[in-house]
This record gives sequence, C-alpha cells and structure tokens, in this order.
Amino acid sequence: MPHRRRVEPDIRRYYTEVYAEADRLHRTAQGRLEARRTRDLLARLLPAPPAAVLDVGGGPGTYTGWLAASGHRVHLVDLVPAHVAAVRAACPEVTATVGDARAVPLPDGSADATLLLGPLYHLPDRADRVAALREAARLTRPGGPVVGAAISRNAALIEKSAEGRVDEYSRPLLLRAYATGVNDPATGFTTAYFHRPEQLVEEFTAAGLPAPRLYGVEGPLWPLLDALDTVPDDRLFHDAVACAAAFEQDPAVLGVSAHLLAVATA
Ligand SMILES: C[S@@+](CC[C@H](N)C(=O)[O-])C[C@H]1O[C@@H](n2cnc3c(N)ncnc32)[C@H](O)[C@@H]1O
Repeated sequence: MPHRRRVEPDIRRYYTEVYAEADRLHRTAQGRLEARRTRDLLARLLPAPPAAVLDVGGGPGTYTGWLAASGHRVHLVDLVPAHVAAVRAACPEVTATVGDARAVPLPDGSADATLLLGPLYHLPDRADRVAALREAARLTRPGGPVVGAAISRNAALIEKSAEGRVDEYSRPLLLRAYATGVNDPATGFTTAYFHRPEQLVEEFTAAGLPAPRLYGVEGPLWPLLDALDTVPDDRLFHDAVACAAAFEQDPAVLGVSAHLLAVATA
C-alpha cells in the first residue's frame, strides 16, 4: 500500500493553537461572500427540512446553527476537540462528536444528506480523500446528496498576488502547490490539498458517487473584496454574489473561485 501522510496532529494543532476558525466567515468580506454563497447553494442542494444532516468536518459549527434553525436535525463530526466543544456550547439542539471523516462510527444510511466541507482539502493523499468520500456515501441513505467542498488549485496564487504578497520566499512555495496541489505548511496554512475541478469529479466517481455537479462558490470577483474590509460597499458585495451565481456552473471559470462545491447522489 502506498505510504499515506499522517495529518491529524498538524490539523489539530493548527486549529487549536494557531488559527481561530470560529469567526473566519464573519471577519472579512471574502469570508462573508463564501458563507453567503455556500448557504445559498446548500439551501438548493439539501433536501427540504426536516432532514437528518451529517456535517463532517463541520468545524466550530459554521453552518450547523443555520441548518438547525432551518429545521434540520444535525449531527456534527470533527477532528478538533475544541471545535466539537464550541458546537456543543453554542448549539444545544445539535449533537457533535470528535471523529475522522475516513471512518465515522455510525450505521449505513443514517443521514438524509452528508456534508464534507473541510476534510477533502485537509487530506493531501488521494486515497484518504476517496476514503472520506466513500464513507460519506455509506452514511447517506440511497438517493440522498453528498456535498463536498474543495479549495481551488488556483486560489492561493490569486489571493497572494491580489494582496501583493508574492515574494522570493513565497513564490516557490506557491508555484509548488500550484503544480502538485499539496500545500507546504511553511506558507502559514496547515496541511492542505488544492483541487482542480476535474480531480473532484474523478475522486467522487472513484468513491462510488458518479456524475457530481460542480459549483464555483465565490465566482471571479472575490479578490476585489479585500477593499471592503476598509471601505464597506454593499453594491460591490451584492454584485460579487450575483456574478458568482451567474457563473456558478460555467466550466470556463469554475477554477477561479476560491472554493468549489461538488454534489452527487449516494
Ligand atoms: C476550515 S474548517 C471548515 C469548517 C466548515 N465546515 C466550513 O465549511 O467553514 C475545516 C474543518 O475540517 C476539519 N477536518 C479536517 N480534516 C478532517 C478529517 N479527516 N475528519 C474530520 N474533520 C476534519 C477540521 O478539523 C476543521 O474543523
């Protein structure tokens, strides 16, 4: 069997000691665009409430409270104990356990829909990503959706270039990640994998989730939104949301979104 990297300690340390995930999607206009578009897409892709939604890699409950408030019954699984504790404290109506997306100790078909919004971009080995997708397919009742999030292969280079932060130190790291998909934690982010759209399709298919539909989350205007953190402009934000929606399934621009969602039926 090919050697697989052991990534859990690095990811737990990053989210416990280095990075505060809890307000990531509120702190910046880019984060608010990601959250707004992800909620818009999930509202269309998930079954009507009340459904049993399994939120694997749900973090500190980023979408959990919103899903529960929409009428869904949500169970969250995450690798980071501090995230699970935060969800339990903030959302008493939600159940949550520490666990790994590659082996979730729940019965077959226990969810009407399963979210994998995190694990696919933190597992650098294809075999692990396919294992996580296969597990999501097993956990979802036949006919229910499995929704996976990926970070686009192009995102880091676009983001750092837009911020004017590509220098002699970062350029080789960014170009290596662009070539291989594997992020070097020396960039400041943790262990991560960045997908091309066609790889997401291939990995879903290999996991028994054929013909996934792909959606670009942020669309092409997200690099401009940094400006809104100093000078708020509702018009630009709303135009970025509308532009992302207009292009969301256009194969020619999928890869310029920072995140991609893929959905297929179990
Ligand atoms: C950036 S956060 C995303 C949180 C939220 N789902 C969202 O979309 O904003 C990534 C989350 O995935 C979790 N994660 C990464 N690898 C995982 C794995 N193998 N099993 C379960 N959770 C994992 C991390 O602990 C972290 O909470």
